[in-house]
Amino acid sequence: MSITREFFRHPLLTGAIAPSSPRLAEEMTAGLGLERAARVAELGPGTGVFTEAVLTLLRPEARLTVVEINPRFAPSLRQRYPQVDVVTGSAEHLALDDVDVVVSGLPWTAMTAARQRRILDAVTGALTPNGRFTTFAYAHAAWTPPGRRFAASLRSRFAVVERTPVVWGNLPPAFVYRAALPVAVGRVRRGQPAAALA
Ligand SMILES: C[S@@+](CC[C@H](N)C(=O)[O-])C[C@H]1O[C@@H](n2cnc3c(N)ncnc32)[C@H](O)[C@@H]1O
Repeated sequence: MSITREFFRHPLLTGAIAPSSPRLAEEMTAGLGLERAARVAELGPGTGVFTEAVLTLLRPEARLTVVEINPRFAPSLRQRYPQVDVVTGSAEHLALDDVDVVVSGLPWTAMTAARQRRILDAVTGALTPNGRFTTFAYAHAAWTPPGRRFAASLRSRFAVVERTPVVWGNLPPAFVYRAALPVAVGRVRRGQPAAALA
């Protein structure tokens, strides 16, 4: 199963022509306390680039649930990662509690504002009070109206939202948002060092 093939079948749903790079996966999983997490969820794992990076950091007893809307990815995810709960469905139906970290590979700017809102509601509803959320955005799309809308939604829901530098080696170049609850009360910090959330 390949992201490229799925992109040509369902471009908007897949949202990327190539899987994320290991360097982006490293940036996506750094500074979140995954080494101490008990429960982690990943949204839109695709072929599992972030899944692999998360698993290298998790303790063996930690639980990882991945939610992928495209059923064609499920068999290979289950085969490669038998310790992971693979759920086929949309992330807006994420039905977990007490999640320490949510990692998202979702194509935010390719989905409707309503779906974006429902998924972010599901994420904040699933996280523990000290929960962390990480997601990425393509640099070229960050200043489009959907990209700006997504950034504003993050800042309205999370107390801390950080942006990493762009990973230029990713195709296309991308950066990572790391966000932390509690829900924002108007305080936003941007461009802080990644370690601030660890
Ligand atoms: C940009 S690809 C990223 C795949 C992988 N995480 C990576 O970085 O290479 C987006 C993935 O999100 C999945 N997806 C899109 N909308 C979704 C939704 N509402 N719920 C769950 N998965 C979704 C797509 O099927 C695809 O696998």
